[in-house]
Parts: sequence; structure tokens; C-alpha cells
Amino acid sequence: QKRYSITLLPGDGIGPEVISVAKDVLKLTGSLEGIEFNFQEMPMGGSALDLVGVPLPDETLAAAKNSDAVLLGAIGGYKWDNNAKHLKPETGLLQIREGLKVFANLRPATVLPQVLVEASTLKREVAEGVDVMVVRELTGGIYFGKPRGFRTDENGEEVGFNTEVYAAYEIDRIARVAFETARKRQGRLCSVDKANVLEASMLWRRRVTAIAEEYPDVELSHMYVDNAAMQLVRNPKQVFDTIVTNNIFGDILSDEASMITGSIGMLPSASLGSSVLTKSRFRLFEPIHGSAPDIAGQDKANPLATILSAAMLLKYGLEEEDAARRIENAVLDTLNKGLRTGDIYSTGTVSDLFMLKASLACFLALL
Ligand code: NAD
Ligand code: IPM
Ligand code: MN
Repeated sequence: QKRYSITLLPGDGIGPEVISVAKDVLKLTGSLEGIEFNFQEMPMGGSALDLVGVPLPDETLAAAKNSDAVLLGAIGGYKWDNNAKHLKPETGLLQIREGLKVFANLRPATVLPQVLVEASTLKREVAEGVDVMVVRELTGGIYFGKPRGFRTDENGEEVGFNTEVYAAYEIDRIARVAFETARKRQGRLCSVDKANVLEASMLWRRRVTAIAEEYPDVELSHMYVDNAAMQLVRNPKQVFDTIVTNNIFGDILSDEASMITGSIGMLPSASLGSSVLTKSRFRLFEPIHGSAPDIAGQDKANPLATILSAAMLLKYGLEEEDAARRIENAVLDTLNKGLRTGDIYSTGTVSDLFMLKASLACFLALL
């Protein structure tokens, strides 16, 4: 019997709702695959602010570091939107990414044949077969760059400012993860930047080009981010296989890519601390969507992004590939049965969440 400890960070809004389903799925999968999970739930985000006054309590970070992998729901909500920076739920999320040093965020966007017909807002021939992997740098760039803050300028005008910074080593390591990832896919890597304007992007392009020497089997191209945003909805399959980009561009492009697949409620992610090939201690898995305060508490949240993040946890975090595949297949079969939450672009009817869970459980056990 294999045993793993998993830290669960339900967070806020729909976070606890989707984590609870993902936890049940992991438990059932574990019992079918001979794996025992030891779950520990810890507060983070707004719920931690309410409980202990900080968005990432020391105990939560410590528990995350002491477990085999971390699964996060989502954080944030209207209630905390006007808090000072250090008292925002989002600050807790940035702190845990930084604290676990998970600099590489893999965000796959795959158009599943099962949902394709009604689920994409793009034309069938454009959406069909899309399979893009966004490799987003997660612990640098404008999210973390200094100086940052507010000040008053010489005219007495209030100014807010941030800095986009990348050191060569930060670019080199994310580039290597991206080349390794592309190598295992179609071998095409597109580096997205704004090197026509930003110095940090000029260095980015230079370093990615230099690292490409180590990967002669991967075809590298470069694209400006504005063009990339356009190409993603023009002809994603022809243009993209693997994308590597900075923190903020990756945030935006992955939400855009999610819509090609039908809904942001289905896209998972893995945040890794070193090359995909090398073992590293810390791994964080999270859906790419947020806490969806507009639908929280109404039993409408799509749990699939978190369930698929749990599958990524099994695959990338614990190397339990069979268990991961069991979950992925159960998700496909459930969608194939026509069961879907309201966020999946559709003219059809919305399934009851209970039915969705029951279907997942059946398909998990059937495999
Ligand atoms: P959001 O992703 O929470 O929601 C955007 C839209 O998508 C909403 O209409 C929402 O109802 C819908 N949606 C998202 N996930 C869904 C799901 N699983 N099922 C069904 N519908 C879903 O983005 P937002 O509204 O810009 O942000 C809300 C809050 O979440 C903010 O406080 C933001 O900072 C935070 N946020 C957190 C994370 C995270 O925890 N990783 C990510 C993004 C945003
Ligand atoms: C995400 C979110 C976060 C980000 C926010 C909530 C800090 O949008 O995980 O995509 O920008 O990274
Ligand atoms: Mn985002």
C-alpha cells in the first residue's frame, strides 16, 4: 500500500466546493489503485485572513512543504478586494508560489472531442483538435519585481508603479522546462514576449534563443504577445504546440486559451519547482480559474478543472500515471454522457452536480 500526504488548500468562493469533489475523486481513485492519501486541509486566502489575519499563515506554508503535493482550490472575493496589498487573498497565493519556489506553471488547453461540438465559441474547424500547452513563468516578472508601490509625484499626483524584471537565470530555467515539455509533445516551441518594447523581453528573447542550442530537436519561434493573442483565436492548432511566456502574459493567454476548449472551468495546472525531468520537492496543483464569487454557494461550480489538477498531481507530483489516467478517462466518459455544468458553453441543459459526481464515481470504478 502506497501512502502520500496531500495538503488541501480549499481557499474561498467556489474553492471549497471544487476541492471537496476532487478530494472524493482522489480517495476513490486511491482505493481502486492501492494508494492511501493522507489529507490535511489548511486555511489560505480570504478564509485565512478571516481566521488568523494573514493570507498565508506560516503553518499553511509549513504543511505544504511537508507534504508530497499540494492541491489548491481558488482564493479571493469581493469582501477582501479593497484590502491593503499585504492583506489581500491574492498576496497569499503569490507567497505560496514564491515560498514553494514553483517557477514553472504548466497550463494545458485541450479541446476534448467529447465536448467539442457545442463547447467552443470558435468555429468547429478552428477548435477541433486544439492541444496547446502554456508554460507560464510563475515566480518572477512584474508580479514580483521591485520597485513597486504607490507614491506622490512632483505635481502631488498619486502614482502606482510596478517593475517587469527578469534575471537571465530565471529565463534560462523556465526555457529549459519549456523545451523539455515541447520535446515530449510536437516539438514546436513558441516564445511569446514584447521584445519590441520591453528590455526584460529583449533579454528573454536572447536567453531563450541561447538555450535553444541545447535542444536542436525542438523548433523554436518567437512571437509578440499582441499577435499571439490574435493567433490563438485565429488558428491555434496551426500556430501553437507549446508556448513559453512570462508571468503576466501567461496569466492572460491561458484564460484566453481556456475559452477555445469551451470553459475556464475545465482547465487544470501544475506548478513545478524544477525541470520536468528532475525531481524537486515542491509541487502545487491548481485550476486556472478563480474563486468565481458570482456563482459561489449555488452548487454551480464546475469541479473538472480541479479534478484534472488532481490528475496532474498524480502524474507530475507522484508519478502515479495509472491513477492519473483513470481520472482523466472518467472525466471524458462523464462529458461523453452529456453531463456538464452551466459554464461549458452550451445551448443544451445543465446537469445536476449530484449526477455529475455519481457519473464520475461510476466511471472511475468501471475502468
Ligand atoms: P474567475 O475565474 O473566478 O471567474 C471568471 C468567470 O468564470 C466567472 O463568471 C465565473 O463564474 C466563471 N467560472 C470560473 N470558474 C468556474 C468554474 N469552476 N465553474 C463555473 N464557472 C466558473 O475570475 P474573476 O471573476 O476575475 O476573479 C474572481 C476572484 O478570483 C478574484 O478575487 C480573483 O483575484 C480571484 N482569482 C483567483 C485565482 C486563483 O485562486 N488561482 C485565479 C483567478 C482569479
Ligand atoms: C491565476 C490568477 C492569479 C494570477 C491571481 C489571483 C494572483 O489569476 O492563478 O491565474 O494572476 O496568477
Ligand atoms: Mn489568472
